[in-house]
Order: sequence, then structure tokens, then C-alpha cells
Amino acid sequence: MPTDPSPVVPPNVDTSRPSAARVYDFLLGGHHNFKSDREFAGRLQQVVPRIGDYARENRSFLRRAVIEAVNVGYTQFLDIGSGIPTVGNVHQVADQARPERDTKVLYVDNEPVACAHTKLLLRDEDGDPRRHHSLEGDLLDTEGLWSRIVEDGLLNLDRPVVLLLAAVLHFIKDERDPDTALSFLRDQLPAGSLLVLSSMTNDTPSDEAEAQALREIEALYERSTNPGQLRTVKEFRRFFGDWLMTAPGLVYAPAWRPDMGIRSPLFERPEQSRIIVGVATKPGIGVPRLRGVVAR
Ligand SMILES: C[S@@+](CC[C@H](N)C(=O)[O-])C[C@H]1O[C@@H](n2cnc3c(N)ncnc32)[C@H](O)[C@@H]1O
Repeated sequence: MPTDPSPVVPPNVDTSRPSAARVYDFLLGGHHNFKSDREFAGRLQQVVPRIGDYARENRSFLRRAVIEAVNVGYTQFLDIGSGIPTVGNVHQVADQARPERDTKVLYVDNEPVACAHTKLLLRDEDGDPRRHHSLEGDLLDTEGLWSRIVEDGLLNLDRPVVLLLAAVLHFIKDERDPDTALSFLRDQLPAGSLLVLSSMTNDTPSDEAEAQALREIEALYERSTNPGQLRTVKEFRRFFGDWLMTAPGLVYAPAWRPDMGIRSPLFERPEQSRIIVGVATKPGIGVPRLRGVVAR
């Protein structure tokens, strides 16, 4: 993590409105956030006291997915909506998992504070400019973003890539057409690429009180820079297109290839994490694959 914990404020950042990146940073115990973010996080915690657990479970899934991908030979990662650097950033997890230090990570986010801190982390801490890059860009400007990814040149886009979109899609409403963005990216990536997705879900609330709390969370985010939409598991599944879902399928985060050494507090009741996750492979012949393709 950057040594200076105070947030960098790039020009034109409205610090009076909470942003998803900075609120998430606060929920994870980070320091790159402002008063508006902390107050907003406080309101979220009043509605859903467990929201910090959701963030930690999501982050823990991301770590396990990167390790699994590295272990079967993936070396290229495109992390869109990468957020503010916190413990266990993708390049750090990948480097730990692969001592050859030949993994490459391209971070993308549209939040200026997140991008500024990612650049600082890569420059001043453990980044390797030959293997780790960061771009400020918007998933929804998909073709423009893709041109910049190509131009950046870090990733060999003829070789399989692990595309990570962790805890991003619930910040994009259907009316902003995330489907076209995902479809475009799935088309660009070569066979054997992996799609790692996670999202908060409003599927099967335990009772009316939880259903109401989830609606309140959506209503609160209307006041942030990232108004969003929670989706059911069925609604979320479509973002994988026709890619092959790897085992254990679309499941709640604590149930995705759990690390028995670092057992999740929600291991017995994974649905309480409210984070649905999945990892799918682009079909093709002779490509590396995570074990166990499962029925959709
Ligand atoms: C909750 S954070 C997740 C961070 C990280 N992926 C993780 O899972 O730990 C969501 C991130 O998505 C970013 N984001 C939201 N909409 C985006 C978009 N249209 N394009 C790029 N990034 C976006 C936000 O700025 C924020 O940093």
C-alpha cells in the first residue's frame, strides 16, 4: 500500500459526493476516502450492518480466483474496475503465486482517486513498469477503452487473458447497457481467456426486512457517483454469455473454491455474503482451463 495514507485529490474530483471506489476502500479499512464517503458508508452500515463482510468476501474471492488462474498457467490479467489499491492487489497476489514474476496486470478504473493511487502504488511500491500498468478508463466506453488497451501494449491479446470485473456490474444499471460492453470484451478476447465476475445480489432475501434493506442500499447509491442496480442470480448469469462456467459454477463468494487455511466466517452460510461469483472460460480447442466445467 502507498506509504502516505492521505487521499490524493486529482483536479475535478468532487469530494462532497461519495464514490463507490472510496466507500469500498473505507469498508475495507483503507484511508483513501473523504468525509462524504465515510458518512455514506456509515449509512450503509446502519441499513446492512454486514456490508463490510460483503466487501471482504468479494476481495477474498478475487484473491482466490487470481491464485487459481496463476496456478493453471494464466499470466495476463485485465482488471477493470480495479478500485483503490488495498491489501492483496491483483499484481501482488499474482507475484506471490508465481515466483517467476512473469505475470502482467493492466488495471483500469474510471474513478480518478482510484487511478491516482494505483499509479502511485505501482510507481513507489512494488510495481514493475514492464509488467504492471494502469489506465483511467470507462468500461462503458468499451471500444475506446479497448483501443487504449491495445495501444498500451502490455497485454498480448493473442494469448489468453484473465478479465476481472469484481464488484463492478452492480454499479451499472441495465439502462446503461452493460451487456454490450461485456459482449464486446468477450468477443475481443482469445479462446481460453477467463472471465471472473462478482456482484452483489438481491436474490432470495431471507425475509421482507432484508428485501427492504437491499432496496434501501440501491436508493442510497442514487446519491453517490455510482448509482447502481442489484440483480438476481438469473439476471447476473447472462454476463458470462456462452463461456463455459468452471466448477463450482455460479455460487456465493465464500463457496467458491474456499481456502481451508483461511476459512471464511460465512463458510457455513455463504448466501449471507450477498456476493455472487463465477469464473468462465472462452471455449476453444487446446486452451488452458480451470478444472471442472459445470452445467449452467
Ligand atoms: C467496489 S469497487 C471494486 C474494486 C475491486 N474490483 C475489488 O473487487 O476489490 C468497484 C470499482 O468499480 C469502478 N467502476 C464503476 N463503474 C465503472 C466503469 N463504468 N468503468 C470503470 N470502472 C468502474 C469503481 O470506480 C470502483 O473502483
